[in-house]
Amino acid sequence: MRIAVVYLRSLVTLAMSALSFAAIAGVGEGQELYDAYCQICHGGIGEGQTMGKPLTDNAANRLSDQELIAVITDGRSGTGMVAWGGSFSEEEIFDVASFVRTLQGKQGLNLAKDNAVANDDPALLAGEQLFNGTAACIMCHSYRGQGGNVGPTLDGVSSRLNDNALEQALLNPSATIVRGYAAKVVELPDGTVIRGRSRNDSELAVQIQTEDGRRWVTYFKDRVESITDSNESLMPDTFATLGASQQVQLMAFLKSL
Ligand code: HEC
Ligand code: HEC
Repeated sequence: MRIAVVYLRSLVTLAMSALSFAAIAGVGEGQELYDAYCQICHGGIGEGQTMGKPLTDNAANRLSDQELIAVITDGRSGTGMVAWGGSFSEEEIFDVASFVRTLQGKQGLNLAKDNAVANDDPALLAGEQLFNGTAACIMCHSYRGQGGNVGPTLDGVSSRLNDNALEQALLNPSATIVRGYAAKVVELPDGTVIRGRSRNDSELAVQIQTEDGRRWVTYFKDRVESITDSNESLMPDTFATLGASQQVQLMAFLKSL
């Protein structure tokens, strides 16, 4: 079984590289497969049923094509989402994944985009260097499995945000804050102020992510001065300080994700 899964995974990788020049992978038999195997838990239009979760919410929309294929292939251990890699061929997994994309209002899997950096557009390459270098976006954001987690992954960002919304997110990060990434401010009795993304906010305590994104620190509410919601994004406005040509390069790179 293990071997079969590993084998299938390499097939998927192979198929992905083979498909990287195709524009958009079609739905093929995706709808039939979805109706037969998935809708019982995820609902006829991906709206979610008692046994599954919606496939049209933000979390599912944010999955990159690779992540989408991986969750269908490998499942999520400990949940009702079993691995379909054993029962479906790689082509069937592509088809059903592509159909899930259409439920999300997209055209299908867009595997060409995932390999866009293989493209040698110099602006795009310069943008990727900025992202990883001087602009330091990589400290907080990941793409293709690498980078920080203080901000959301930017895989698929160009399908989530149109050019205008993308530019707004960069120029004015606090104007709209991505759900789940808002900051809280904790003031300690000695006056120290801590700002970060929060989770598990309860009557007793709240957890705040450290600046490097690596740990979640628990603050007990009866031991701090105050805890307040921040309207300001954790994202600095680095983009606004870049020169016009650097902005164009960074945009070109983000639009390839
Ligand atoms: C027995 C019920 C069940 C069936 C059948 C099922 N799923 Fe799931 N699926 C789930 C559950 C439950 C989750 C949420 C797992 C978790 O907690 O992360 C899930 C998660 C997912 C996710 C990840 C969504 C996200 O937001 O991260 C995708 C994509 C998905 N399923 C697609 C499919 C497809 C495609 C099929 C059919 C081949 C399918 N599922 C069949 C129960 C099911
Ligand atoms: C200190 C951490 C940090 C750095 C550095 C950072 N960001 Fe962000 N970024 C965030 C957080 C947190 C969010 C989510 C909150 C929000 O919407 O402002 C975000 C949101 C975004 C979004 C919106 C994503 C979406 O799904 O709507 C984009 C695009 C983005 N950042 C791009 C960049 C780029 C490009 C850089 C480098 C110039 C950068 N970020 C640097 C933390 C950071």
